[in-house]
Amino acid sequence: MTRLSLSIASPSTATADALVIGVYQGEDGPVAADPAFASVAAASTLAGANGKPGTVTTIPGAGLVSAERIIAVGLGRAPAASAADGEADDRAVHLERVRQAAGVASRSAAGRGKVVSTLSTIDLGAAAEGHLLGAYVFDTYKKPGQPPVGQLVLAVPSADKTAKAELRRAEITVEAVTFARSLVNSAPNDLPPAVFADRASAAARDAGLKVEVLDEKALAKGGYGGILGVGSGSSRPPRLVRISYAPAGAKATVALVGKGITFDSGGLSIKPAAKMDQMTSDMAGAAAVVATAIAAAKLQLPVTVTATAALAENLPSGTAYRPGDVLRHYGGTRGKGAGKTVHVLNTDAEGRLVLADAIVRACEDDPDYLLETATLTGAQVAALGNRTMGVMGSAALRDRVAELAREVGEGGWAMPLPEHLREGLESPLADLANIAGEPGGGMLVAGHYLAAFVPDGLDWAHLDVAGPAFNSGKPYGYTGPGGTGVPVRTLLAVLQDIAGR
Ligand code: BES
Ligand code: MN
Ligand code: ZN
Repeated sequence: MTRLSLSIASPSTATADALVIGVYQGEDGPVAADPAFASVAAASTLAGANGKPGTVTTIPGAGLVSAERIIAVGLGRAPAASAADGEADDRAVHLERVRQAAGVASRSAAGRGKVVSTLSTIDLGAAAEGHLLGAYVFDTYKKPGQPPVGQLVLAVPSADKTAKAELRRAEITVEAVTFARSLVNSAPNDLPPAVFADRASAAARDAGLKVEVLDEKALAKGGYGGILGVGSGSSRPPRLVRISYAPAGAKATVALVGKGITFDSGGLSIKPAAKMDQMTSDMAGAAAVVATAIAAAKLQLPVTVTATAALAENLPSGTAYRPGDVLRHYGGTRGKGAGKTVHVLNTDAEGRLVLADAIVRACEDDPDYLLETATLTGAQVAALGNRTMGVMGSAALRDRVAELAREVGEGGWAMPLPEHLREGLESPLADLANIAGEPGGGMLVAGHYLAAFVPDGLDWAHLDVAGPAFNSGKPYGYTGPGGTGVPVRTLLAVLQDIAGR
């Protein structure tokens, strides 16, 4: 990872390969975020800088600053000095602009040795996060054209305890996001359930968390029919991973549950060939919950967190589960799951099958909150696109999670679970069918399926990140190609929110 440090020295006289400055989009043209760089902003304007979010303009530093070059990044409109309404929203939008601009600067500074940034004088945490996330590259299979920026120096008015703590928090957050990204970016041939389980366990143990892994034998003994059914087509058997962080004096217990389909071909209800390769990202939910639990420990949050990752590979074969099969979900010792049966009508609606088992298991711990996340439906992408997760669940927690998702810049919107859509999952043969007969509202129908396994009265949220977890397009802001690490920062924000109650 790129090295990060703080400096109270004057950025304009610092020797560096590049100096990063922020530029707002003013009424009468671009304006330097820091008035000290007014002339620098004017020079960058001549070179085409306009202050629009996402833009980057590089000019020589000669005669202006000691750094060899200046990287001017757009921050959009300056935040209103006192917005009468929506002040909190305004601030969140501004911080996200800082994060994105820092990400753009880091990407454009690839190959440089030392870069000094002044975005940290706007907000240290946002600048640190954006810079580090933007500097991430996945180089397991191919060396990047330019190595990531070597050293990032963040200008600050004072490198006191508060600043250091903020920096450390950003580093832990980014470590979690990049851990999740790297799991998602690992090719599916390299990441069968057992390997995912090993990598998650190793990282969790390193951070002092407790780990439990159920292999196929233990899953059979426990009656995890959903996970076993989905995994039955692959020669590489399923796993259930549970990692726990339980600090003394915890204020609440949070169950995290994630979908970990290491590859989703659709099974016998096979997917079309186009874009099937992207189903390497179908374990992003599991990656996110594992990364979040580990980060919660490193941040020493006063909450007990157990991440449950349901891992299987969904492939067609002579041993695969079939459309028409009836599976029996994990029964558990409490909760309303109680070994429900499911009539499998489509083997491509596999996420809900592994998740139902995992939810019932997670709820045996009697958590105060259940946060579950999955790349669950194409319908999420159709409804909200690639940068806004759909959030369902109990009203108050659902709304809070969606709000926090927007605040951290991951994007989220609350979605309903209309009563009438539940009827679509009724089956004459079993307790449930895994798809609805009627088309439409697929994201919500999937939410209903999961809701059938959540104990009554439990605060819970389901985060469908089918679109946001994976960037199949061009890099933007602090997001490169492939795994994005969504929704790690949302989950961490929710844990922090719960810890602060
Ligand atoms: N993993 C997919 C959902 C998905 C789609 C994730 C696109 C990321 C991008 C999921 O298992 C799936 O196949 N869902 C089906 C459900 C359907 C059969 C009810 C879908 O959305 O088409
Ligand atoms: Mn599927
Ligand atoms: Zn899937």
